[in-house]
Amino acid sequence: MTGDDAIEPAAAEAPWRLQLRAALGDLPAVRRRSLRSLAPAAGAGAGLQPAPPEGAADHRTGEPGPPPPFPLLDLASNDYLGLSRDPAVLAAAAAELAVSGLGAGASRLVSGTRPVHLELEQALATWLGRERVLLFPSGFQANLAAVCALADRHSLVLADRLIHHSLLAGVRASGARLKRFAHNDPADLERLLLSERRARPEGRLLVLCESLYSMEGSTPPLAALAALCGRQRVPLLVDEAHALGVLGPGGRGLAHGLAEVAIVSGTLGKAFGSGGAFLAGDGLVGDWLLQSSGAFRYTTALAPPLAAGALASLERIQADPGAAAALLKRSDRWRDALAAAGWPRPPGEGPILSVRLGDDATALAAQDRLEAAGLLALAIRPPTVPEGTSRLRLVLRAGLPSGTLEKLLEALGPGPRLSRPLAEPGL
Ligand SMILES: Cc1ncc(COP(=O)(O)O)c(C=O)c1O
Repeated sequence: MTGDDAIEPAAAEAPWRLQLRAALGDLPAVRRRSLRSLAPAAGAGAGLQPAPPEGAADHRTGEPGPPPPFPLLDLASNDYLGLSRDPAVLAAAAAELAVSGLGAGASRLVSGTRPVHLELEQALATWLGRERVLLFPSGFQANLAAVCALADRHSLVLADRLIHHSLLAGVRASGARLKRFAHNDPADLERLLLSERRARPEGRLLVLCESLYSMEGSTPPLAALAALCGRQRVPLLVDEAHALGVLGPGGRGLAHGLAEVAIVSGTLGKAFGSGGAFLAGDGLVGDWLLQSSGAFRYTTALAPPLAAGALASLERIQADPGAAAALLKRSDRWRDALAAAGWPRPPGEGPILSVRLGDDATALAAQDRLEAAGLLALAIRPPTVPEGTSRLRLVLRAGLPSGTLEKLLEALGPGPRLSRPLAEPGL
């Protein structure tokens, strides 16, 4: 046998791998995502030090891009009240870590329930005025559980057109049919509800919406949606992931006091500065979730230190309602200032400011301009948002240094309303 005979021909790549490679190859450069490491910058408060992983591609050229040399001020994360670094919250998490260890080691119904889980569930239920709260390891999972609890393959789910991906995943997992109503439009929901009632008087229905849309910054007329669902005797599930801690009385969200809302979904990973999530409802719905939900039952319980941190955050939110009020006031000032500078006024009233720019390249260019000025705010592109609506998502937080707005306006420059010629020829 010669040396040449020993060389095996290279094994052909398996067809499933070729399919993945082809699908990845079809992604245009402006649609490719890459992970980016952002280390907290020492002594810089809200600063994040970017360090792209080796081989990370620049979204414009596909070539590796150098990191900016300075820390970036964070206008991208959802830690709205800055509680992820609050000393009392960190101390509570550390104390629980010492007592319970890091992980619960089992699911809630096996041996994973710690006193802090029950304490947090009770405290959230009292705060929100709901009979029962159940914790989940993430909001994504909680939404999956909530939809599957209230819908099955015989159901029709009516969802706001801009609903979060986790709720859509829940609809798919439930096997229900899906129809969308126009964003924040009770009249369109009513039209769909009435036509479905006429077609299938006994059909099972479920309505889904959010109280603060994370990519729009907008809020629905929730009382009108709830009243409509109440009249039609249809359950309404409201995802309050971005509103809790910030909107509604004392940060209790916009569903607070609306008895027609069957389930409130909340995450502890945003304004609470921790991780995990919960569903809140009445005793019947809570018991149904406990008895039937696979997403609750077959998963390791929320890490006890995260539950303890969230409990301490809840105490901070209750003790200082002024923090959310100040944040909303500041958000409004930013909206006015952006509009005055010629940018489309971001909709809504919360701390998420969505500046519509249109195409991907314009949104990425705005992100780059901000980054060069030391500000981290993300260009949000399809498929996260509908085609042609790429935007810059600015997130305000308590504790942003003064002068941040001025820095932002300078980096953005004048908006299209001011930079377009005032009198175009022929008009
Ligand atoms: C509206 C909405 N619902 C649910 C979630 C999921 O929450 P979590 O991050 O706790 O999984 C998110 C987070 O991105 C969200 O924006």
